[in-house]
Formats: sequence, C-alpha cells, structure tokens
Amino acid sequence: MKATFTILVIQVICLARGIEYQLTLDDDGFLAPCENQPDNTFSLEAMLESSSLTIHNLGSKVRVEGEHKVVWKDVQPGDTLKMFGQVYRLDKGTWQKTMFSASSNNFCKNMFDKNQYWYTFWTKFINNSDEIKEKCLTTPGAVIKYKDFELDLKASLNVPNLEGRYKLVAQLEAFDKRNFKRPVSICVEYRGTVERI
Ligand SMILES: *[C@@H]1O[C@H](CO)[C@@H](O)[C@H](O)[C@H]1NC(C)=O
Repeated sequence: MKATFTILVIQVICLARGIEYQLTLDDDGFLAPCENQPDNTFSLEAMLESSSLTIHNLGSKVRVEGEHKVVWKDVQPGDTLKMFGQVYRLDKGTWQKTMFSASSNNFCKNMFDKNQYWYTFWTKFINNSDEIKEKCLTTPGAVIKYKDFELDLKASLNVPNLEGRYKLVAQLEAFDKRNFKRPVSICVEYRGTVERI
C-alpha cells in the first residue's frame, strides 16, 4: 500500500514538472492539401492570398510578418462561418483523432476569444483586429495585417508519450443569411513532428 502510494507521488511530481516537447513543422507543412475532401473543398489559397506574407521556418520557432488578403470567392460580408479543427496523430500508419480539437458555429463572433486555440496561435497576432472583427474572413479584399511575431513551437506539457507525427486539419464553411451553404469550403492542413527535448 505504502509502496504504491510512493510510486504515485513520484509519478505525480514528474508529471507536474511537465515534459518538454518541440514541434517541427514540415517544410511544406503550411500548405499541404487536405486528404479525402469533397470536390467543393479548397485549400488555404482559395481563402487567403499570402504573397505579402513571409513565414520563416526557424525549426523550433516560426517567424511571421506581413499580411493576408481575403480572396474567398462567393462569400459575403455578414455570412456565418462555421469552423472545425481537429489534431490527428499518426498511429501505425493511420491518422487517429487526439483530444485536441476546436470548433465554432460562428467563427466571426469567436475569432478573437482569448481562451481559444486559434487566438493563441493566430488571431492574437492580428494588428488591425478592430477592422477584422467587422470584416472577418467573409469580406473579399479585406487585408489582415500581422504584428511581426514569432511562434515558439516548444511547450512543457503534463502529458507523457506525445512524440510522433501530427497534423492539424481545419475546415471552414460559409452560410448566407438564409443559412444556405456557400459553394466553396476551405480546408487547411498543417503537418509536423513532435519530439521530446
Ligand atoms: C501595428 O499597428 C500600429 C498602430 O497602427 C503601428 O504603429 C505598427 O507599426 C503596426 N505594426 C506592424 C508590424 O505593422
């Protein structure tokens, strides 16, 4: 009984200290097309034009500067956006869902909610947030301007055995005022490898 207790305590202490992990994104990991999507689903370029955006992949960090331009055809200001994101892990050759997911039935309303993953990793870095709060991703021609920022891809987590291949798949669908789905949906996929450091 006592031995069990001691082992438990040691495990808890180890876990509480956290394990250092690092995510390294694939070189082409920013724009890999999503797999097994219907024909009306397009990748990031169909929504955001990135020619004025520079992403430096620095290994343990990415540095981002510049802007995105909204080029999503067939959406209108005031459309409702639904977003669903899921992180998968490669397990014996197949992608399995992990506990990390995020979704919103009204992304334009939730885009800048501080307790969301997308805020931490994306919308926090939008400099003209007041403008984008209004225009969202549903106003073709809107320009999303970023603060120059670096995203640290290291984290200390109280979770063991996270090493492996991962992908994030995020899907966006737009609906008009009568709640009809717009023809072009967007799917974005990021891939990378998590290692213990
Ligand atoms: C962000 O906006 C502020 C205020 O408009 C401006 O001074 C600053 O230069 C902007 N930052 C970038 C990186 O554009």
